[in-house]
Amino acid sequence: MKTFNAAIVGLGFGAEFIPIYQRHPRANMYAICQRDKKKLDAVGDAFGVQRRYTSYADLLRDKDVDFVHINTPIPDHAAMTTAALEAGKHVACTVPMATSVEDCRKIVELSARKGKKYMMMETVVYSREFLYLQELYKKGELGKLQFLQASHQQDMDGWPGYWPGLPPMHYATHCVGPVLGLPRADAEVVSCFGSGTIREEMIPIYGSPFAVETAHIKLRGTDLSARIIRSLFDVARQYRESIDVYGSKKAFEWPLVEGEDAVLHTAKRAEHEIPERVKVPDYAHLLPEGIRPFTTKGVYDMAENEHLSFTQGGGHGGSHPHLVHEFLMALAEDREPWPNAKQSANWTCVGILAHESALAGGELKRLPDWSFTA
Ligand SMILES: NC(=O)c1ccc[n+]([C@@H]2O[C@H](COP(=O)([O-])OP(=O)(O)OC[C@H]3O[C@@H](n4cnc5c(N)ncnc54)[C@H](O)[C@@H]3O)[C@@H](O)[C@H]2O)c1
Repeated sequence: MKTFNAAIVGLGFGAEFIPIYQRHPRANMYAICQRDKKKLDAVGDAFGVQRRYTSYADLLRDKDVDFVHINTPIPDHAAMTTAALEAGKHVACTVPMATSVEDCRKIVELSARKGKKYMMMETVVYSREFLYLQELYKKGELGKLQFLQASHQQDMDGWPGYWPGLPPMHYATHCVGPVLGLPRADAEVVSCFGSGTIREEMIPIYGSPFAVETAHIKLRGTDLSARIIRSLFDVARQYRESIDVYGSKKAFEWPLVEGEDAVLHTAKRAEHEIPERVKVPDYAHLLPEGIRPFTTKGVYDMAENEHLSFTQGGGHGGSHPHLVHEFLMALAEDREPWPNAKQSANWTCVGILAHESALAGGELKRLPDWSFTA
């Protein structure tokens, strides 16, 4: 059975994927990369990864690397992805794909020209809630889809680097992904309004004043539209990624407060029987045995390691092992991963164009033709 040599770049969030690759039958957890040597060695020693790079360029020159999994800060994603594709490597990259429409186009073009696979590692579309919804939808239990909405609200105060003042829609894939991903449709047009104002000192950083951005998306080739909501600063809200889906037979609503159960509404019942709380099942059975435990919390406790303060497992709706599995199986089966380069570009461009729309008072923005999958 062919295995693929993995290289993980960026070892904050990125380190959480190391033990998953180490246990996937199609992967060889080959190399890690990050600039700070001390942390690089701490992570390498903790997980027993021998091949270590402080220079990304050196890593790309290593002929034994089959693919890179990029987990560096947002502004670096596009340049690192294009460099890896140019070097003949497959690429898995954390969200978002890029911060400009032009960079998304370049990656789509390069991935096709080089015949190398690209997957944006969007966590929400592999969360247990999304997998549950997908199952309901495929079985026809939702009936005809009528509307979708998703939110991603997070208080990013105190986060370093590029975060302060970031336009909310520049990090929108956690809500764009699920609303386009469930019906497997492309976004065609987006319109967005900004609301509220963030603290004065943060506004000039990106020239973006809005505390909240809300957008409507028209889904291409369907009668559907979806609404998405984003906030990053100066809005009182517990962290929440969510998707609500309204079908003619059933509707699914994400819990309002973390830890509660979701609500499933069934039409044509006595009013008080319409909503019911549902326990969303675990989808670990879809995975190779060795990585199933990573869908649940606490499987890999690194909390005592000063460089690795995470408790692995269950993160982001248990999505991490599913992402790894999807990407590796796309390589193994020589098929497109989901989301592939075009789909990732379409999802990412929704956020970029939504912010442009908000700055232009809600003007309709059309997604580029090259981002359409059909
Ligand atoms: N749910 C999700 O999908 C999710 C969750 C968390 C983080 N993320 C994404 O993951 C990325 C990393 O987030 P984080 O919180 O770990 O950030 P971080 O700043 O803590 O870590 C970034 C890492 O990249 C390394 N790095 C930066 N530039 C590099 C370079 N040129 N060469 C090699 N290494 C380099 C840093 O040393 C660090 O290890 C971000 O893009 C973030 O948006 C996604």
